[in-house]
Amino acid sequence: MQRSNYCGLITSEYLGQTVTVKGWVHRRRDLGGLIFFDLRDREGLVQIVAEPNTQCFVNANELKNEYVVEVTGLVRSRPNPNKELKTGAIEIIANEITILNIAVQTPILVDDENVSEMNRLTHRIIDLRGQKMRNNIMLRTKLSREIRRFLDDEGFLDIETPFLTRSTPEGARDFLVPSRVHKGSFYALPQSPQLFKQLLMVAGFDRYYQIVRCFRDEDLRADRQPEFTQVDIETSFLTEMEIRDMAERLIRRAFKNVLDVELPEFPVMTYADAMYYYGSDKPDLRLEDLKFIDLTTELKECGFKVFNEAANRSDGRIVALKFPASVTLSRKELDELTKFVGIYGAKGLPYIKVNDASKPSDEGLQSPVVKFLSSEELATIIEKTNAQNGEIILFGADKAKVVNEAMGALRLKLGHEKGLANGEWKPMWVVDFPMFEYDEEEDRYVACHHPFTSPKDEHIDKLTTNPAECLAKAYDIVLNGWELGGGSIRIYQSDIQSKVFDALKISKDEAQNKFGFLLDNLQFGAPPHGGIAFGLDRIASMMCKAESIRDVIAFPKTTKGQCLLTNAPNSVDDKQLTDLGIAKLV
Ligand code: AMO
Ligand code: AMP
Repeated sequence: MQRSNYCGLITSEYLGQTVTVKGWVHRRRDLGGLIFFDLRDREGLVQIVAEPNTQCFVNANELKNEYVVEVTGLVRSRPNPNKELKTGAIEIIANEITILNIAVQTPILVDDENVSEMNRLTHRIIDLRGQKMRNNIMLRTKLSREIRRFLDDEGFLDIETPFLTRSTPEGARDFLVPSRVHKGSFYALPQSPQLFKQLLMVAGFDRYYQIVRCFRDEDLRADRQPEFTQVDIETSFLTEMEIRDMAERLIRRAFKNVLDVELPEFPVMTYADAMYYYGSDKPDLRLEDLKFIDLTTELKECGFKVFNEAANRSDGRIVALKFPASVTLSRKELDELTKFVGIYGAKGLPYIKVNDASKPSDEGLQSPVVKFLSSEELATIIEKTNAQNGEIILFGADKAKVVNEAMGALRLKLGHEKGLANGEWKPMWVVDFPMFEYDEEEDRYVACHHPFTSPKDEHIDKLTTNPAECLAKAYDIVLNGWELGGGSIRIYQSDIQSKVFDALKISKDEAQNKFGFLLDNLQFGAPPHGGIAFGLDRIASMMCKAESIRDVIAFPKTTKGQCLLTNAPNSVDDKQLTDLGIAKLV
């Protein structure tokens, strides 16, 4: 018989109808002569009943978990509805039960919440049968469908670009693929289709998109996988504002049509402000009011050695984070927080508990550092932080990088733990990124976004005079503290591209050797162009409220880059190595 309905979609509207469903036995219960079992398919569960003295009962008696079964029966209302289930108001009284396949006992149980992630990933197929993963994967396909619809409506062309391509240094490490035909030569898997999408603009396609796999050999975290999916977009002749507007409409429509969520305004913040107030280029604006208060200038003359040193080094800063009186921190909690900021390199966590703000001395303030600070300095701290009685101020004083990371992480941790977050969804743009950042290891500037990002028009001179202060036409879209996407307006004039390579200390020969195929083609009439790429896995995991992007990827890798299902990466035969001209390490 053909299936008439998905199990999980049968509701009261089918009462009195005969249906045929096919799926997996989820759980069986024998009760007072009746056999009940839940049948499961991708849409959910439905309860089946087999009555005694029927062939159905005999067949139902044989059922075990995960048997594949076809059931035909009548939909009737349930005496004791189950409000937790979409199909909880009805059940199917079976006329016919056919076992389509049996199953051996599975190593993990479907929907068992106590299974470790290791086990879930090893037995991924059983794990994918569970409600959480089913819902996540189905939401993800809905999301990519909405994105495709939007881009199609806006006239974008879906164009594929190569996976076996040329290694171009762009940021992360490349995954290399040895060539058998050209021994000793390698393809690289693309970190993104960046150069190809620019070339498609030079070729005149005007609007390109692709939902595409990208590969980066980098250290993995909850929001990073070695292969991940981008919604990659490039357009010709649009300004930064026009591209941002389009990207914002795309995200808005996806949230509306997938989650029925109307996203609020997308405030625009400069990179400089984001770092100054939140110590991060992806601030979580659910904690918008929990801002750093910078005291670097005010504490330059300070007698407390830690503050004094931080305030007087060129790369140092001092910030205060003030928590409302509702946040009480015990001695033990403060010790734990000190350890926590230590993870990010902070060597301590000075604090001031404000008992009486009108007495900014050891009388009104409780703190291990009051004794090192003058009464003027204490008064300034109270004034600048606008501290009220009962509030507590925590300090970060070190290299700016350490302060931003440590106090930024503390802000997120305490803010969320102490219930200070507001609003469910807080999107934003971060704009005006620097063109370059200094790489201590390489002792040279490297591109913040990538070397093809255009400087702001008014900063072109700074490419040669002051690269550190040169800002880029680059933008990131951030949601609840996660970077969802990033893009830029590209350089389309060769002379500016050369200046950028100069600033990056990439010689003409090296540039020609590495990116010649782009540079040559930019000379054949390149239109002004720019674009953006979203992390599809990240958008999906935010929408599913998943803790890690692994929960929205059918077959993800562990943080060590392994696939526990297939056991990749694995060693290969000597013969395969010989064919590729690769010597074996002994
Ligand atoms: P970028 O490197 O910022 O830009 O990447 C764009 C978006 O891709 C997602 N992302 C990742 N997701 C999961 N795992 C990873 N390892 C990972 N790395 C990045 C993020 C990020 O915002 N070619 C440029 C885009 C452009 O300029 O148009 C690029 O790749 O959500
Ligand atoms: P101490 O004088 O060692 O008791 O430190 C006083 C306060 O300053 C404590 O709250 C420490 O956590 C903090 N502190 C000490 N050394 C550092 C440092 N190098 N960086 C930041 N905070 C520090």
